[in-house]
Amino acid sequence: MIVVKTKAEIEYMHAAGKVLAACHREIRNRIRPGVTTWEIDQFVEQFLKQHGATPEQKGYHGYPYATCASVNDVICHGFPNKEPLKDGDIVTIDMVVNLNGWLADSAWSYAVGNVSETAKKLLDTTKEALYLGIKQAVVGNRIGDISHAIQTFAEANGFSVVRDFTGHGIGEEMHEDPYVPHYGPAGKGPRLKEGMVLTIEPMLNTGSYHATIDDDGWTARTIDGGLSAQYEHTIAITGDGPLILTEQ
Ligand code: MF3
Ligand code: CO
Repeated sequence: MIVVKTKAEIEYMHAAGKVLAACHREIRNRIRPGVTTWEIDQFVEQFLKQHGATPEQKGYHGYPYATCASVNDVICHGFPNKEPLKDGDIVTIDMVVNLNGWLADSAWSYAVGNVSETAKKLLDTTKEALYLGIKQAVVGNRIGDISHAIQTFAEANGFSVVRDFTGHGIGEEMHEDPYVPHYGPAGKGPRLKEGMVLTIEPMLNTGSYHATIDDDGWTARTIDGGLSAQYEHTIAITGDGPLILTEQ
């Protein structure tokens, strides 16, 4: 069942999204060789607390941290750890912010120092794929229109689209209907209506789209060791087009 939100509810989610966006801006300034994702996670906990918010991921189905920190071949759900980031790494920081019971979800990938041309192109393409998907998030379109725009652009640039993880509805729950795949045919799936709030969160790989899960039960990696990047926004479908609730 797709839960449609009122304008007031979307405003509450936007408030959560603004805290999240401000947090990502701070992270961007902190990412550099030598910093650990554990330190970033600690910073996020503190930042959210200062803003009257809480990290929804912590404790979610037993997930132990405020953020997911996914380095290089990790697709998503990586654990923050005390290994310093190295020049040339790419890292995705993903978090869900709870402000007064309303949620916002956004992931952002960052280059650590100087990264390869391939990594740079992967980051740029994944970000652009997200925004092309968002452009399709208009009243009357279908979920498949978002999926198709992302897949077409990603593959035209030589990258693959992860299948095992999708975007989702979000509100008072982290994961609500509908699923938002980042691949598939246009013109299919649920029709988009005013008041729906969705995440769009493409994960693109340099090699195969297949994923494997580490023994920790969470960390998803590319099966071939290729790089993976992800950008995610929470957006509301409005009469005036898509409203990005987690814009930085
Ligand atoms: N924020 C992510 C999502 O898009 C991942 C949540 S998994 C968690 O849904 F368990 F770590 F929270
Ligand atoms: Co999400």
